[in-house]
Amino acid sequence: MTDTLDIKITKTTKSRLAETDFSNLVFGRTFSDHMLVADYEGGEWKNIEILPYGEIALSPAISALHYGQAFFEGLKAYKHEDGTIAVFRPEKNAARFNKSAERLCTAEIPVDLFTQSIAALVDVDRDWIPAAAGHSLYIRPVMFATDAYLGVTPSKTYKFVVLTCPVGPYFTKPLRVKFETHYTRAAEGGFGYAKAAGNYGGSMLPFKKAAEEGFDQLIWTDAKEHLYVEEMGAANVMFVLDGKLVTPSTRDTILDGVTRDTVISLAKSWGMPVEERRVSIAEVVEGARNGKLTDAFGAGTAATIAPIGAFHHNGEEFTLSDPSTREFSQKVLKTLDDIRYGRVEDTFGWNY
Ligand code: COI
Repeated sequence: MTDTLDIKITKTTKSRLAETDFSNLVFGRTFSDHMLVADYEGGEWKNIEILPYGEIALSPAISALHYGQAFFEGLKAYKHEDGTIAVFRPEKNAARFNKSAERLCTAEIPVDLFTQSIAALVDVDRDWIPAAAGHSLYIRPVMFATDAYLGVTPSKTYKFVVLTCPVGPYFTKPLRVKFETHYTRAAEGGFGYAKAAGNYGGSMLPFKKAAEEGFDQLIWTDAKEHLYVEEMGAANVMFVLDGKLVTPSTRDTILDGVTRDTVISLAKSWGMPVEERRVSIAEVVEGARNGKLTDAFGAGTAATIAPIGAFHHNGEEFTLSDPSTREFSQKVLKTLDDIRYGRVEDTFGWNY
């Protein structure tokens, strides 16, 4: 990669900024004025372009639609109090994007192309970044296969597209969840660790059923025995059990979450013991019974820290402490906000 990318920029002549209600943002519904598009053809990335957000013409035969060669990322940009704009840990997302690319047999993307494209797009739409508490610009890079060919084989052409959305908090209340012991999100040898579009499509029916039963989210369990905790909805899941931060270790079935990694790094910096391992439903239930489970939350870019208010298992309901009284997740949220909104020195080097 060269030091700076050659990006063609065409700005909109009809900004939607003035007509956007920033006090009522629904996650993922409002798109900023511009998007970035690049093409992979003949073994290289080309035609990198920022242009007004809008439709893209595609053949109905593209293999992304038929065979699911498509995956995405989620990251956020924040406006600091001094006006600086920072994207949170984009190199981590770039690395994971390429892990997804490898598993889905697509082209990979140079880390510089990923991060500089995002920086350029965020710069063009910097006025779309809300500064209110809990608000940010959600950035959605996606890659998909564009060969118009119905043979089941890796495409030779791809598109890389980046969209951005001003967003507020994803969840606004503590979640009531259940352990999902029938459906499976991911199995060993599969691609649960990739941010493949299909992983999310396959989760919709179990979610719909859980919602019909009155749950806000579900906790996925292992495909073999449904005895071990894996993830929560579209986020990682973390617990404080007996004073330790406990979370399922990353493997084939678990996404190597950037927020997960951030929370672990913070906990370690505070000298808190961290256990990344298999976590059984039984020990979470036991912890809720004996009071050793003092915190439980989903951790993700969209969700940030999403407190579990109550969980249900085998006909029993367990109500956890009021999230505002939870020492660990409150400290994580405060520290994270201080770093992301530029209120303290970023000693971890997370702001780009
Ligand atoms: C994210 O946290 O960025 C996600 O991928 C969740 C999204 C599917 C809403």
